[in-house]
Amino acid sequence: MKKQIWVTQPTLAPLSEVIPYLESIWETGVMTHNGPLMQQLESNLCSYLNVSNMVCVANGTCAMQIAIRALDLTGEIITTPFTFIATANIITWERCRPVFVDINPDTWTIDPHKIEEAITENTSAILPVHVFSAPCDVELIEKIAEKHQLKVVYDAAHAMAVKYKGHSVLSYGDISCVSFHATKLFNTAEGGGCVAKDPDVSERLRRLRFFGFNDNKDIVDDGMNAKMTEVNAALGLANLRHIDETIRVRKYKYNLYLQLLSELPFLTFQKINPESYNYSYMPVLFDSEEILLEVSKSLIEYGIMPRRYFYPSLSSVQLFQPLRSLPIAERVSKCILCLPLYTTLSDEDIEMICELIKKCV
Ligand SMILES: Cc1ncc(COP(=O)(O)O)c(C=O)c1O
Repeated sequence: MKKQIWVTQPTLAPLSEVIPYLESIWETGVMTHNGPLMQQLESNLCSYLNVSNMVCVANGTCAMQIAIRALDLTGEIITTPFTFIATANIITWERCRPVFVDINPDTWTIDPHKIEEAITENTSAILPVHVFSAPCDVELIEKIAEKHQLKVVYDAAHAMAVKYKGHSVLSYGDISCVSFHATKLFNTAEGGGCVAKDPDVSERLRRLRFFGFNDNKDIVDDGMNAKMTEVNAALGLANLRHIDETIRVRKYKYNLYLQLLSELPFLTFQKINPESYNYSYMPVLFDSEEILLEVSKSLIEYGIMPRRYFYPSLSSVQLFQPLRSLPIAERVSKCILCLPLYTTLSDEDIEMICELIKKCV
């Protein structure tokens, strides 16, 4: 059978490092609900990221949902159309309305210069996305938010371990929400976390992830079940030990792609600051959708499975009315393909993928 090369594979610690944590779960019988492993993971993440609090939850999607509740957001929330569907549908699930603003053509993150014209009296927040881990213009976004008294929630699903001017990018905004899904740089199989600036908001997030109960089991908030299980935390504790090595290997492979593809006239790369990026994806932007489809077809014939991230632009999805024309996001969405990138992908496989791309156009 032809070897399949997927767009991503989870980075996993050796099983022998996970087993002692699992044994402790079997001994105590504590499977979930603010268990000791999850508490340990929260504390280890705080130390690793140098942030003062981390509220671990079941996934990145519910991290954003409880973030919207913790800040009492209502009405319109300004966001980017070049993102995963979860960014926008949590806004509608929380009975708010996403208002899409176009993106920067080079970084592919929300264009902060277009935010102000989208603000109305109904706007309560800005929800930008650190796309493929490249930080948004966090300083300008903060200024705009302050000027208009808006909250900022970052969809930092991709941005684990990314620093901006020496600080974790998760420390920006009122709340940053990260995903620990199996496809992410650091994973707990399914999982996520919220980092809030204000300790009171952090406490509220803890209540919201636990049905709205406080420490005395009084029902004080309109919460949900967003708890991270001990099994997920066990995986996270083991995986976190390897994160720096994971980034190092991914960065090397990303740069190998850059080197092999940089001569090609029909593709470009995301504009990044190499110090503020975690190399969790290998996105390339083709000159046209036609070339993208051609490349994609030829790779799939060889058992290589690239993926279109994020297609289509959410500004053209019927679910989100009124539809708006946002030309940069629409063009970028149509022309981006993520190539395989993961720690166990061999150099030979990367060379083969690049050869196929060169040959097919
Ligand atoms: C930009 C973005 N936001 C949110 C999510 C949702 O995270 P999760 O899968 O952990 O719910 C994802 C994807 O997984 C994502 O890519």
